[in-house]
Amino acid sequence: MGKYKNIVVLTGAGISAESGIKTYRAKDGLWEKYKLEDVATLDGYKRDPELVLDFYNQRRKDFCHGGSKPNAAHYALAELERQFDGEFLLVTQNIDNLHEQAGSKNVIHMHGELLKARCAKTNQIIPWKADLTSNDVCTCCQYPLPLRPHIVWFGEMPIGLDMIYHQLAQADLFISIGTSGTVYPAAGFVEEAHSVGAETVEVNLELSDLHSHFDSVLQGKASEQVPALVKKLLL
Ligand code: NAD
Ligand code: APR
Repeated sequence: MGKYKNIVVLTGAGISAESGIKTYRAKDGLWEKYKLEDVATLDGYKRDPELVLDFYNQRRKDFCHGGSKPNAAHYALAELERQFDGEFLLVTQNIDNLHEQAGSKNVIHMHGELLKARCAKTNQIIPWKADLTSNDVCTCCQYPLPLRPHIVWFGEMPIGLDMIYHQLAQADLFISIGTSGTVYPAAGFVEEAHSVGAETVEVNLELSDLHSHFDSVLQGKASEQVPALVKKLLL
C-alpha cells in the first residue's frame, strides 16, 4: 500500500447497477424513457415542476422501497478507505446513498443527493425521504419558496469541484468505476489526474468513451472487479 499516498475514486451509475438501480444510458436506462431536457434541467423544472418532482419521487420510491442495498463494490471501497493510510476521496456522480450505507466516509456527491431537498432561495439542505410536492416549502425563508430536489441538473454547477480538483492535483492513483464518461466535468477528471502523473485505472462493464485515456482498464462487473482491485491495493 506504500506505493500510493493520495487516491481519488470516481463512481457512476454502473457501480449501483448490481444493487438494482437503473443506469442512465443503458438500452433500458433512464434516458431511454425520459427526455433529459424535461426532467434534468432547470428550464424543464420551470416549465413543468410536477413532472420533474414526479420523476425524482419515483426514483426515491424505487430506491427506498425497492430495498436497494450496497453491493460488494461499495463495500470494497469503504474497506479501502478504512485501511488506506494516505488521503482518500470518493467522488460519486450517483444520487443514491449506497456508498454511505456501505461505510464510506469522505464522499462528495457531485450531482446531488436523492434523499435531500433544498430551498430554492437560500440553498439550505434538508433531509427528505417522502414525496416532494410543489406545496412543500422551506421554513428557513421569510417568504417561503417551494423546495426543489437536491439534484445538480444539466447546465448547473456540480457540487464540491474546488475540493475535487484540489485532490486530483495531488493524486497518485485515480480510479474510475461504472461511468460512461460522457458528462463533464467528471469525464475530464482522468486528464486532470494524468497531467499530475497519477496512475489511472478504469473499471467498467463495457469500454467507456474514455477507456483509451486510462493506463489500465479492468472490464467486467463492478461487484467482481472492484473487490479484486482493492485486495491487490491492500496487499
Ligand atoms: P458541461 O458538460 O459543459 O458542464 C457541466 C456543468 O459543470 C456546467 O454547469 C458548467 O458550468 C460546469 N463546469 C464545467 N467545467 C467546469 C470546471 N472546470 N469548473 C467548474 N465548473 C465547471 O454541460 P452540461 O450541460 O452539464 O452537459 C454535460 C454533458 O451531457 C454534455 O457534454 C452532453 O454530452 C450531455 N448532454 C446531453 C443531452 C442530451 O443527450 N439530450 C443534453 C444535455 C447534456
Ligand atoms: N459493473 C461495472 N460497470 C457497469 C455495470 C456493472 N455491473 N453495469 C453498467 N456498467 C457501466 C456501463 O457499461 C456504463 O458505461 O456503467 C456505465 C454507466 O454509464 P451511465 O448510465 O452513462 O451513467 P453515468 O456515467 O454515471 O452518468 C453520468 O449522467 O445523466 C447524468 O447526472 C447523471 O450522474 C449521471 C451522469
